[in-house]
Amino acid sequence: MMAILNRKASLIVLAANFAVVVIVLVFHSHTSYHKEQLHLCPSVHVGVTWINDIKATESMTAEEIYRYLHWTNSTSCQTAIDFGLRILKNDGVIAPDGYTAVCLDQSISPVFNNCLVYSFGIHNQWTFDEDMADFGCHVYSFDPSMNVGNHNRSERIHFYDIGLDGKNRLHPTTGWKMRTASSIYHMLTSQHGATTIIDVLKMDIEFSEWDAIPQMLQSGFLTDKVKQLAVEIHFNPDDPLEAFRHRVQILRNLEATSQNRGAGGFVRFSSRPNPWLKRPLKVLGGREDYTGLELAWYNSKYY
Ligand SMILES: *[C@@H]1O[C@H](CO)[C@@H](O)[C@H](O)[C@H]1NC(C)=O
Ligand SMILES: *[C@@H]1O[C@H](CO)[C@@H](O)[C@H](O)[C@H]1NC(C)=O
Repeated sequence: MMAILNRKASLIVLAANFAVVVIVLVFHSHTSYHKEQLHLCPSVHVGVTWINDIKATESMTAEEIYRYLHWTNSTSCQTAIDFGLRILKNDGVIAPDGYTAVCLDQSISPVFNNCLVYSFGIHNQWTFDEDMADFGCHVYSFDPSMNVGNHNRSERIHFYDIGLDGKNRLHPTTGWKMRTASSIYHMLTSQHGATTIIDVLKMDIEFSEWDAIPQMLQSGFLTDKVKQLAVEIHFNPDDPLEAFRHRVQILRNLEATSQNRGAGGFVRFSSRPNPWLKRPLKVLGGREDYTGLELAWYNSKYY
């Protein structure tokens, strides 16, 4: 989340710090949303306020894609709480950082003192992991880029020098040890058990999300093992429209509700741009929008 600041980023943050958990009132988009699912997609709806599930991804414009990315389901979670939030001051600019939204509605909430968290991509910023550990969760933290070996950071925070990817391999340029979510889970069964559900899986892994998520959908790992998922998604300022569409299709598969293998049934409850990543974008003809957004979902099977 660290990046060059944009002085024009205007944010209103209403934050109240209660011990470890910082509660932020999240603005919900009021975009109207059509209930029809993918298979009901009449093209006559083109031009209405909302696009998702109406238009095929391969014909979405950049504007529609950004509307889809910024959209969130305003009724899906009553109590979305930010864990790990800190206010960073940098170059005279003040903005939030380190946060991940977790839904604490009764049926979906991690159980205090009895919960499991996987946290991918630490970048030496432990605030989320520490807040989840304060909530009583066992937190498995992964980052191959820190030059630190496996260790227990505290009684409840367990660090591994591994990256999340779509396949088991050594990273082609850096040589880091990369693993699929299933392989990592398998490796850790002696620690957390072979059937334990991951209450929150967070990833901020600099583009590897686009390989990891499809693999986790195809293998059934997300549907079977994960209750809540939070991802910082990434784009490059000069990515072509095709790259955006390809990635939006991955998110739509995650949110699809059909019985097909690869349809995740995940319900979005939060979408917020990373305030540090506002850039002029080629697909928008140079207009500014965000190259990083933090999205969060829960597995509808548990709600
Ligand atoms: C929005 O959230 C509700 C739960 O409040 C859920 O039933 C519905 O399927 C969600 N809609 C979409 C499109 O995610
Ligand atoms: C961390 O602690 C657990 C017990 O909670 C132990 O099984 C594990 O081997 C420790 N890991 C390291 C790298 O020391």
